[in-house]
Amino acid sequence: MDVAMTMRSVFVSGCMGLMMLVGASGRRASALENGVARTPPMGWNSWNKFACKGINEKVVRESADEMAANGMKDAGYQYVVIDDCWQTGRDAQGNIVADAEKFPSGIKALADYVHSKGLKFGIYSDAGTMTCAKRPGSIGHEYQDAQQYANWGVDYLKEDWCNTLPGQSSESSYTLMREALKATGRPIVFSICEWGSTKPWLWAGTIGNMWRSTGDIQDCWSCKKAWGGNGVVEILDQLAPIYSYAGPGHWNDPDMLEVGNGKMTTEEYRSHFSLWAELAAPLLAGNDLANMTPDTKEILLNKEVIAVDQDGLGAQGQRVKQTGELEVWSKQLADGGRAVVLLNRSDKAATITADWQAVGYPATVSAGVRDLWAHKDLGTKTGSYSAEVPSHGVVMVRVKP
Ligand code: GLA
Repeated sequence: MDVAMTMRSVFVSGCMGLMMLVGASGRRASALENGVARTPPMGWNSWNKFACKGINEKVVRESADEMAANGMKDAGYQYVVIDDCWQTGRDAQGNIVADAEKFPSGIKALADYVHSKGLKFGIYSDAGTMTCAKRPGSIGHEYQDAQQYANWGVDYLKEDWCNTLPGQSSESSYTLMREALKATGRPIVFSICEWGSTKPWLWAGTIGNMWRSTGDIQDCWSCKKAWGGNGVVEILDQLAPIYSYAGPGHWNDPDMLEVGNGKMTTEEYRSHFSLWAELAAPLLAGNDLANMTPDTKEILLNKEVIAVDQDGLGAQGQRVKQTGELEVWSKQLADGGRAVVLLNRSDKAATITADWQAVGYPATVSAGVRDLWAHKDLGTKTGSYSAEVPSHGVVMVRVKP
């Protein structure tokens, strides 16, 4: 090897080392360092099932009771979050006031109750003048609201983006609330909800712990005709290209779960849950926890799938193969393994093959394969793994060389 070549290779390996360092530290530096959401937040949110009309303190208490007793808490679900419609106005000092009919005991008492169950408590506001359901927003009251939430014992804030002022900057508005939350000294998960409208993955990494990347989810597999067209597969397609922006402390948020809300099949809900875990998405159940079918419960409590979502590496899964409506997804795991999802979007059953090369290993490698829904080791496979996948279904496996 001549001197020039040696110099070149030193330069190249030096650059690569530098790139790796920058890559690694860049990832750390781009996270909001508020000590929370190191893995995607898990819990329950009132909106998908109860919306505005159905929310009240009884529903919240019952949901906390259920979560603490039905195995969800043990499986990692933690936050009980009230969405829109808990607030009615402001008092003479500008303090936000809860709806006295729906929440007669007040928000502090409710937060205390949720905490008494060993769970955490979340609330909702909006960066504009009014929430989406026309309740008071936080604009101009950021520090006052944040302090009020902290006094009540709030652990999680979702801030929406309805009724903002013309030209209002999403980045500045959410930065202001981040600072207001920080000033309280209480660790509070900050969930940004501007529906992906200003590409938050590009700027929110140091501002929020999670950001909605799409419009509101609908309880359907593919719903091109519904508002926003955000069924499971449409959201999946919007999340696929932005995988590199997710990591510990800062997650892409494909919206809350619809599992158990009744308009999809059990097969589709199983796929929905598997894919959200593959995406390292926050897992916020959005159903009626007090009235779950055994199927719904089995899906929400699948600890092997939850472990993929909560994996410490914090990598979002990537679509590594797409053949028409048949797809293979691969998520890198902290133990060197991969969580692989074989997804059949078509209307009939099909065989799907995950080649090790697509998944991230050399073709010659032998790897152990475990089915995360059958809860069964499938033995060692070399080069690839194939399975028959039902229509709108998934097969989800953990692969470990
Ligand atoms: C928006 C959000 C939803 C929900 C409603 C409440 O549509 O995206 O998740 O919070 O507002 O009004």
